Amino acid sequence: MAVQNVSAGFYSPFLVKALREIGRKGTLYFFYDLWREYGDLVRIQIGRNVSYLVVHPDHVQQVNVTHRNKYDKRASFEKARKLLLGNSLIVSTGDLWKRQRRLLSPFFTPRGIEQYLPIFISEAQKLCQHWERLAAQGEPIEMIEEMMRLTAAIIVRTLFGTTQESEVRRTTHDVDFLVAFLADTQIKPFSFPLWVPTKRNRLYRETRARIHAYIDSLIAERRALPVENYPNDMLSKLMLARDEETGAPIPDDLIREEAITMFFAGHETTARGLAFAWYALASEPEVEAKLHAEIDQVLGSGTPTVETLKQLPYTLQVLKETMRLYPPAPLYVRDVVEEDRMAGQTIQAGAQIILMPYCTHRHPDFWHEPSRYDPDRFLPEQEAARHPFAFHPFAAGQRICIGNNFALLEMHVLLSMLAARFAPRLKRGHQVELAVGGTLQAKNGLWMHIVPR
Ligand code: HEM
Repeated sequence: MAVQNVSAGFYSPFLVKALREIGRKGTLYFFYDLWREYGDLVRIQIGRNVSYLVVHPDHVQQVNVTHRNKYDKRASFEKARKLLLGNSLIVSTGDLWKRQRRLLSPFFTPRGIEQYLPIFISEAQKLCQHWERLAAQGEPIEMIEEMMRLTAAIIVRTLFGTTQESEVRRTTHDVDFLVAFLADTQIKPFSFPLWVPTKRNRLYRETRARIHAYIDSLIAERRALPVENYPNDMLSKLMLARDEETGAPIPDDLIREEAITMFFAGHETTARGLAFAWYALASEPEVEAKLHAEIDQVLGSGTPTVETLKQLPYTLQVLKETMRLYPPAPLYVRDVVEEDRMAGQTIQAGAQIILMPYCTHRHPDFWHEPSRYDPDRFLPEQEAARHPFAFHPFAAGQRICIGNNFALLEMHVLLSMLAARFAPRLKRGHQVELAVGGTLQAKNGLWMHIVPR
């Protein structure tokens, strides 16, 4: 692979200086500034820890595809495995990962996800009614939270078939708490081991036990039914999946871990993608007008089908352009398991690779006027002409997000149905400041008014 003209640099500050910089700028701008200052490949050494910031699309391809055997999910994922996700798809490696990916992939084919369309539509309809009330009240809402409630309800229904508000609320609360606990433990330089009975640890153990008991009870209820009476949701699919080589089912603890993973991976990112789409549309009147024209012509006040969605290409372009400038997962990491070379540098085994869609998506060599919001970048001819790894909001290669089609279908339905009736507006004077905390955040929230069209 010919990688040319890739600028590379070294950043090796004292720990205190690095921590101060991160504290002052926040993680997102800390890495963004390193990229602008040092180039597309930055070796970062803080104390004995070495990591590499990887921005150039050729290197995104190298890590995810061409040299993928040299990069894996090892030490960087230990805490996630231990505290929340066990051996589920998103954190497993080697043969176990391969087996799980093979088992789960059929749930996520374009045909496999079409069955969830009625769930997306009915949740969008419920939200329309809620937004009518909100519009009448005129109070601003925090859009990320609003979209999180929507996508959480959708993923709980997809996974467990339940429409009960109380179950949706409790599951959402419990998984979100565990995810926040994990994120917090990952960034804290010190936290008490789990056996120490601090309030935080006790809450963690109680919440984890509650969510496990809930999923176990759903599994047990189904086991008491004849298979043909299992509800048609993802939990049943996990229970009925059989390895094509060995015929073995997925063990119960792994079913539970997969379900928690799907919930965790499947709602927050999608919610952020949608919330930032509302933000972008409110700031770009011409794009919004073009979007409205497309939706009015194709959908009117009706509900979308797989066929009508194909006639809403601009709506999908808006979502992609939003994920370019505001990638819901602005960075993801890998561990180097075997020494490699990049741009003339040795990439040492044991180091961490930080892949940063947020920066790749703003790279001026691949995106003309990168900070301009322009959905036409995703016209088919423009997409075809671009480096295939210049856009990687869902990661890339064999570990690309398994839910990417699901997420795009969900966002396509929700945005088209909601934008057919509403044009949210940013609260006057509200300044949006981006940050990263696992996913893309707005520091002071995304405060918007719901305005009927
Ligand atoms: C806009 C929405 C989404 C974005 C931006 C997104 C992004 C990502 C990214 C960047 C990864 C790679 C993470 C890593 O390797 O560390 C990933 C993996 C994954 N995502 Fe998503 N995701 C989205 C929606 C979903 C949905 C809806 C689901 C499930 C219903 C899902 C399930 C997963 C799973 C299971 C993996 C692990 C795949 C594997 O390692 O084989 N994601 N996603």
